[in-house]
Amino acid sequence: MGGHDPTAATAENYRVFALEASGRSPLYERLATEVASDPAVLGFLDGLPASKRQPNLLFAAARYLLGEPASLETLRALAGGRREELAGVMLARRTQTNEPARCAALLPLLAPLPQPLALIEVGASAGLTLLPDRYSYDYAGHRVTGTDPAAPVLECEPRGPVPLPDRVPQVAWRAGLDLNPLDVASDSDMDWLECLVWPGEDGRSARLHAAIAAARRDPPAVRRGDLLTDVPALARQAPPDATLVIFHSAVLAYVDPAGRRQFADAVRGLGAVWISNEGPGVAPGDTSRPQAARSAYGNHCFALMQDGVGTVALADGHGTWLHWLAAG
Ligand SMILES: C[S@@+](CC[C@H](N)C(=O)[O-])C[C@H]1O[C@@H](n2cnc3c(N)ncnc32)[C@H](O)[C@@H]1O
Repeated sequence: MGGHDPTAATAENYRVFALEASGRSPLYERLATEVASDPAVLGFLDGLPASKRQPNLLFAAARYLLGEPASLETLRALAGGRREELAGVMLARRTQTNEPARCAALLPLLAPLPQPLALIEVGASAGLTLLPDRYSYDYAGHRVTGTDPAAPVLECEPRGPVPLPDRVPQVAWRAGLDLNPLDVASDSDMDWLECLVWPGEDGRSARLHAAIAAARRDPPAVRRGDLLTDVPALARQAPPDATLVIFHSAVLAYVDPAGRRQFADAVRGLGAVWISNEGPGVAPGDTSRPQAARSAYGNHCFALMQDGVGTVALADGHGTWLHWLAAG
């Protein structure tokens, strides 16, 4: 169905994106639908490499240049009169959404481990999910207080027997790894992160703002590197008397299946605790796909797993609910 026609394939991507945006961002739902049948914008996208035609990248780049979310008219004007500039942002930038609220899903696995922890996050983006101890949490009234009183309170609805922690973990050392780290001290990097939030998701913008401010008070170190090759060297820098935890969320989908297995083998060889928060069936050892499909969430959720064995919980992609499957 149009598989050999690049323009038709791009249009189809925008139609699928419109479905994803439905109920979350009416503005992007409409815009993606309009782009899917707009020859001018599709023609502009045809001039970019296939990996650079995604709706999220186009809409964030347009917002970055316009200072506000695009409409079809402003998008057409950019793709016409400011073509080089728009293409330049899309070629230079990536979709690296960093959602601090995912820490609310990680916390019930981090808190019971022997403390203190040495945290390595692969695919850390700006490092906002490397700060689970600084944020506070509200699990439907069960409050957990973080170490930075001005950091955001992450609200998460617990479903099932979630082992709710009483305190945040003690983090002795932390480091992130990313192919393209974003710098919390850089205004343009942080503007880009804010442009990646979809209009209509106002809670996310406010949360991101507060998390960036918290990270700027004591920036996490995010090194440039590849999760396929650079984890062992980073792990050697962790203090030996802390529990080493290697974790990731919304990252392994960017790695091919052979690479995912290579990464899993490397992590297992390091004797670290391994925490994975990825789409169902993405991480090696994750058995959640049928469970997720049977649940009310379909495949629109993440599967939480510890040490590559089975699935502990299903979680909202943005951390707003956590459904525990195993007895806590
Ligand atoms: C969608 S972001 C997720 C950021 C963060 N983990 C979170 O949950 O908010 C995915 C990140 O993974 C990074 N990434 C993708 N492939 C990678 C690789 N092979 N090695 C290191 N980082 C990678 C991207 O650059 C991007 O910053």
